[in-house]
Amino acid sequence: MEHRQRPLTPLCAFPYALIMALPAPRENTTAIVTGASSGIGAEIARELARRGHGVTLVARRADRLKALAGDLAHDYGVRAEMIVNDLTDADARSSLPEQVARFGLTPDILVNNAGFSTMGPVYRSSRAQEIDMVRTNVEAVVDLCTMFVSGMVTRHRGAVLNTASTAAFQPLPGQAGYGASKAFVLSYGRALGAELRGKGVTVTTLCPGPVETGFAEAAGISDAEAMEALPSFMWLPAAEVARAGVEGLAAGRSVVIPGTANRAAAALAQMVPKSVILPLMAQRHPSLKAGSKR
Ligand SMILES: NC(=O)c1ccc[n+]([C@@H]2O[C@H](COP(=O)([O-])OP(=O)(O)OC[C@H]3O[C@@H](n4cnc5c(N)ncnc54)[C@H](OP(=O)(O)O)[C@@H]3O)[C@@H](O)[C@H]2O)c1
Repeated sequence: MEHRQRPLTPLCAFPYALIMALPAPRENTTAIVTGASSGIGAEIARELARRGHGVTLVARRADRLKALAGDLAHDYGVRAEMIVNDLTDADARSSLPEQVARFGLTPDILVNNAGFSTMGPVYRSSRAQEIDMVRTNVEAVVDLCTMFVSGMVTRHRGAVLNTASTAAFQPLPGQAGYGASKAFVLSYGRALGAELRGKGVTVTTLCPGPVETGFAEAAGISDAEAMEALPSFMWLPAAEVARAGVEGLAAGRSVVIPGTANRAAAALAQMVPKSVILPLMAQRHPSLKAGSKR
């Protein structure tokens, strides 16, 4: 496969580890990656494995996690295990620290990447889906950070990568709950990072623009509709987004927005008055166009 790269050898990893915010891999440490069964999460796991980190893959689809764990162990010679977990479920989430401990592992890296979007105006939405989205995109992020960060602080060693979105930089009519959930992730990550300064733990928030993954399908929109809503130069491959995220994590950066066009769009979204930008966004959103059934 074209995106397989050789793992870093211990010799070249050594000086690299000295300048990184990312803890150097050890035999009994792991990087927990949620949403690793597809898209950006699978590529973040791959990028961490390429750097020699053992990974603990979390999502609901066991077959995909198993296949990825096998690939990573084979391609990069790292340890990779899976935890099948529905992150919307608070009880299921509670079992995570014990499950990781049962593997004999200490989490040095936490990647909160699992997430999805509903699509369409709130007045036509499903109450259950809206709540599930908030539980997955917001509640699980808070819960996992709360579960794992205190141990990192005690060890003075850790790095957290949370996936938000460029949707975090302005409200998003047509995906109101999703945009707000990602604004939460961005705000929470920035505050958490400030709390942890000097404690050996860094927090990075990854804010991708549009990426070709299972995201549009999960949200119930066609690739053609998704492509029409946002110009092609804003779209990036998942592997490139993941690489930017892990590089930002390694450099201890607070916020990473992959791609020049997405950085410009995020800056513009924060400068232009909301009274100007929001009607335009509502006009362009596929789920809010006349005749849309969503
Ligand atoms: N694609 C984009 O354009 C884009 C842009 C900006 C931000 N993002 C964000 O990037 C992150 C990854 O999305 P993606 O684009 O890679 O989409 P994706 O291919 O659909 O991946 C979503 C991942 O989240 C997992 N997930 C969803 N609900 C879950 C649950 N209840 N419990 C456990 N895992 C769950 C899925 O695994 P299972 O289904 O196997 O559980 C899957 O691994 C999300 O937070 C998304 O909001 C995406």
